[in-house]
Amino acid sequence: MIRINIATLFPEMCEAFLSESIIGRARKAGAVEIGCRNIRTYTLDKHRRVDDKPFGGGTGMVMQAQPVYDCVMSIISDLGEGAKPRLIYMSPQGRTLTQEVVKELAAEDDLIILCGHYEGIDQRVLDELGFEEISVGDYVVTGGELPALMLTDAVCRLQEGVLPNEDAYSKESHYNGLLEHPQYTRPEEWRGRRVPEVLLSGHHENIRKWQEEMSLKVTREKRPEMLERL
Ligand SMILES: C[S@@+](CC[C@H](N)C(=O)[O-])C[C@H]1O[C@@H](n2cnc3c(N)ncnc32)[C@H](O)[C@@H]1O
Repeated sequence: MIRINIATLFPEMCEAFLSESIIGRARKAGAVEIGCRNIRTYTLDKHRRVDDKPFGGGTGMVMQAQPVYDCVMSIISDLGEGAKPRLIYMSPQGRTLTQEVVKELAAEDDLIILCGHYEGIDQRVLDELGFEEISVGDYVVTGGELPALMLTDAVCRLQEGVLPNEDAYSKESHYNGLLEHPQYTRPEEWRGRRVPEVLLSGHHENIRKWQEEMSLKVTREKRPEMLERL
């Protein structure tokens, strides 16, 4: 079972998401283990500060190395002997998160995901611990919590016992380099729009063929460059 630890200044923000729905149920069922560790717990500052002004000037604050280091080291120690966690810093400067990266990370036993805030984190602690950087895209958000939750969610979906079966994720967009076919539910007709007849036919082979054709069609229309990568 994969263990994921998120090091953050806002553990409640992460817990709020991770306690709900599919991931919340997967945690309760023991299919995944996820912990949120408050970096502030580890500050040695008497005012519990975890950030300071950047050297060289500039707006915003930078998270200090010491509390981040002690937090991550404490997580590593709690993982027990022999654990070799992959250390990931959520950063707009990192490798872009794709389904391929998700598959790679989903095969690990332990992930420690570090969330920056404000202007980011003192570079020295990232270098000292050898963090790799992963980005959710070429834009900047205020903190690493949402990116960390996206990564955690995507990785957890691929773990055994989280979704009902492998089809639930392996037939979805991106898993095999294509987008998924359109989906429909009841009623059969809504505002004059009918569900494609083949889906009502009960003919499994024809349905499978239709889904395959539609998957190619929507990929060609929405993301033609994905077909070139196949
Ligand atoms: C405002 S950002 C800091 C941006 C940093 N000063 C820079 O220009 O590269 C604060 C934190 O949000 C997180 N973050 C922001 N955008 C992100 C992205 N696209 N992917 C992953 N994490 C991101 C990082 O953890 C970062 O330390």
